[in-house]
Amino acid sequence: MSNNRRPVLLVTGGSRGIGAATARLCAAAGYSVCVNYREAADAARQVVGEIESAGGQGHAVRADVGVESEVERLFELCDERLGPVTALVNNAGILEQQMRVDEMDADRLRRVFAVNVVGAFLCAREAVRRMSTRRGGSGGAIVNVSSAASRLGSAGEYVDYASSKGALDTLTLGLSKEVASEGIRVNAVRPGFIRTEIHASGGEADRVERIAKSLPMQRGGEPDEVAQAILWLLSDAASYVTGSFIDIAGGR
Ligand SMILES: NC(=O)c1ccc[n+]([C@@H]2O[C@H](COP(=O)([O-])OP(=O)(O)OC[C@H]3O[C@@H](n4cnc5c(N)ncnc54)[C@H](OP(=O)(O)O)[C@@H]3O)[C@@H](O)[C@H]2O)c1
Repeated sequence: MSNNRRPVLLVTGGSRGIGAATARLCAAAGYSVCVNYREAADAARQVVGEIESAGGQGHAVRADVGVESEVERLFELCDERLGPVTALVNNAGILEQQMRVDEMDADRLRRVFAVNVVGAFLCAREAVRRMSTRRGGSGGAIVNVSSAASRLGSAGEYVDYASSKGALDTLTLGLSKEVASEGIRVNAVRPGFIRTEIHASGGEADRVERIAKSLPMQRGGEPDEVAQAILWLLSDAASYVTGSFIDIAGGR
């Protein structure tokens, strides 16, 4: 383990979109950042390169958060390279081709829930094992990247994805109470319609533009606008905030 004095943040899915924006912003605020990715090695290395060019510290680690052994290895590598995590952003998430529930098969449901729910639980488990004062840690903060979909349901698009974010909301509530007396705060952000590549996986790359004008603010959001809320929730400025949700959806 290094003698690093900076707080250590692990961002799952930090290679692109909201995760990459969070990694950059938090590194600029003084965190050493472990940038997890599953496939986009070049993009993850680029995020780390940008962090280092700006004088920060980062490290990229490949792991599929839906695979228990890979999550364990991810946190061990973070321990070795940067130190034990003091902050976790459970950001990695997937959605699949837009379709109705009456067309979905079990394999799709398993894939979505493996990443969005099981992955978040496994990463939260590893973080709590390191942060909890009950286990000799010095506390920490977890932010789960949920979605406005958990409130809206995503009918006709991906009710499976929305349901997985509902599970993430309940993880946020339950875990926040479970570890509140152990120095750990657990909160969530619920972004709405943010310009990233995730919408292409649903088969509609310009989905945000289609919906933008129907939103109260009449525009989509940027990854940085989500990252700012995550940074605040992780920070001491939010020291009495736990089990809370910040909706970042332009008023929807
Ligand atoms: N964009 C929106 O409008 C919106 C709205 C609400 C909520 N969200 C949530 O915000 C989070 C980030 O979404 P985004 O829009 O930034 O998506 P994105 O641009 O598609 O990026 C997804 C990130 O997750 C990583 N990832 C996917 N599966 C993974 C796995 N099994 N293990 C590890 N990493 C994995 C990807 O890694 P690779 O690059 O290696 O593939 C990538 O870094 C997700 O949880 C999403 O549900 C997004």
